[in-house]
Amino acid sequence: ISDRAFVINNKNFHEYNIRFTNIDIFGSLHNILYFCLILMIHMQIPDIIIAIDGYSSTGKSSFAKIIANEFSFLYLDSGALYRGVTLFAIENGFITDDCTIDVPGLEKAMENLDLHFGEGGTYIGDRCIEKEIRSLAVAGKVSPIATVPEVRTFVDRKLREFGKNKRIVMDGRDIGTTVFPDAELKIFMTAEPMIRAERRAAEMRAKGQDVDINDVLKNLQERDYIDSHRATSPLTQAADAIVLDNSHMTMEDQMVWIKEIIRERFGL
Ligand code: CDP
Repeated sequence: ISDRAFVINNKNFHEYNIRFTNIDIFGSLHNILYFCLILMIHMQIPDIIIAIDGYSSTGKSSFAKIIANEFSFLYLDSGALYRGVTLFAIENGFITDDCTIDVPGLEKAMENLDLHFGEGGTYIGDRCIEKEIRSLAVAGKVSPIATVPEVRTFVDRKLREFGKNKRIVMDGRDIGTTVFPDAELKIFMTAEPMIRAERRAAEMRAKGQDVDINDVLKNLQERDYIDSHRATSPLTQAADAIVLDNSHMTMEDQMVWIKEIIRERFGL
């Protein structure tokens, strides 16, 4: 199954597999035909890259996933790769409790680091690390790790590979400024810090993590500071990015907002 595969599972029908517009589709004939129709409608959207950057916990990934779903684009979470490198660094002793990083050691070890996206999230080799990378332990060390230029080069190389086919939505901190400076649509997301902390704490609690709102707020403010002040590709708004402050917006409001922009920009 390719990166752009869709599995439509319907146990009552015979399963078929077709390749349509470079997308593998698995499922019953009825569902495949319906899916192709939807794809043809969405194919009117030109081949573009949508870059979503912004502060921690502004809901970039939820927004990016829904946009990708709406337009049949591929969604890519660049932060997950930084979090993956961080977990790897913690587990292999390349970062201490006070965030001193063994850069030469980490750089050498990354040569054999098989960090990739797979079924259900992020993987190191065949181990799914999705749950671990969302912990506060990783969140507390990811921004120092992301300041290391060698780490950024490692992650950027992987991210640019995905950009070759366009039709992606990628979220992060430097997607519109460094990874894809020519992205056709750039969005810069922000929201009030306490609202962001409440949203992130609720998300973590829903996953069974016991968190204190003040720890979450402190973590996101520290990350915002480090991310905005680092020397290599700091978090800044690209000159051609459109700002979205979603402090008082629902996801539905955001979708109305983005669809209007896409209609204006791309005539759709
Ligand atoms: O989900 P949240 O917004 O809290 O963060 P994330 O997207 O998972 O990113 C985690 C961390 O990775 C950020 O705080 C940055 O330090 C780093 N990062 C980065 O430096 N550049 C990116 N393009 C994406 C993430």
